[in-house]
Amino acid sequence: MPMINPPEPSSQRRRLGRSRAYTGADLPKRLLAWHAPRANRWEYFAVECGALRVEWLGADGIRSESFPAGSGRWIPPGTRWRVAGLAADTRFVLEIHADEATPAAAPQALRAALLDEAPQMRVGNGRELASALETLEPGGRCLIHAEFDIAPAIADAVREHAFRLCWHPLQAGEDGWVTLVARLAAPIGLAEYLARDHAVIEAALARALRGAPEGERWLRNALGRHLVIEEELLFPPWLAAGGNPGWVRGLCNEHRHLRRAIEHLDDPVARRRFLLLLDGHDEKEEQIVYPDLVARLGNAVEGLLRQVMVEGLRAEGWHQLAAD
Ligand SMILES: [Fe+2]
Ligand SMILES: [Fe+2]
Repeated sequence: MPMINPPEPSSQRRRLGRSRAYTGADLPKRLLAWHAPRANRWEYFAVECGALRVEWLGADGIRSESFPAGSGRWIPPGTRWRVAGLAADTRFVLEIHADEATPAAAPQALRAALLDEAPQMRVGNGRELASALETLEPGGRCLIHAEFDIAPAIADAVREHAFRLCWHPLQAGEDGWVTLVARLAAPIGLAEYLARDHAVIEAALARALRGAPEGERWLRNALGRHLVIEEELLFPPWLAAGGNPGWVRGLCNEHRHLRRAIEHLDDPVARRRFLLLLDGHDEKEEQIVYPDLVARLGNAVEGLLRQVMVEGLRAEGWHQLAAD
């Protein structure tokens, strides 16, 4: 279904570089992997002939959309998309713009929407939690708040719904449990789950930067859990399957910088550094690292996804962070 009133950048936009035209014969690989315009960048594509099929990795799963000749679309910062198909005669133009009305280090409202616009639900016991999960429509998402540890019940539900239920915990411990839960139309893959997790972290960052009281706590928790998942659950089997040790060293080094910079978000210079580092890191993983990891691990990826989604919450670092 086409998106109603897709967002557009402000009139203070400036095109960066020149327009590039692509066909099936010269399509860069990066457009076939998930990627997103970063910082205050927007992308714009216009289909000149043939048809272009694009997939969006949204809050609620993967959505496919076809664009005929003469149509086009603005792609906001943080929106993950990829080219999913084009005809032999398809030719489209891609442009990159900077929206100068929103500085690169400002809170990005469109990124925060993933959390801001999720309906909130408070559950008092396991029965209420089960019924909240049951009533979630495919394509729907909600933020569940509880005063008890909802992790075991949600892990069971993820298993039961054969990975059509997707969750991203934001808070655990004495101050209560909060998690984003989405019901998907189709089971999610490992690369897609991790890219969605990036989007959740970026949404928490946007909330933290605009001073929402829980923003910084959610950011620390979501990022802490994600880094532990990568370092403890993903990188060791990836290395064992022939993953590049230099890449892993580089990624872990960036994790260290992120952990350090998150302590100084009050300082404008450190904040900008954190934001740009996070953006570049997420981009590299979605473009290069996750596709390589999935290709090398083959059939083992399914077991790994199970570990990440079901046991990932139990990762030690997450619990340490939550207890702070
Ligand atoms: Fe990472
Ligand atoms: Fe990551």
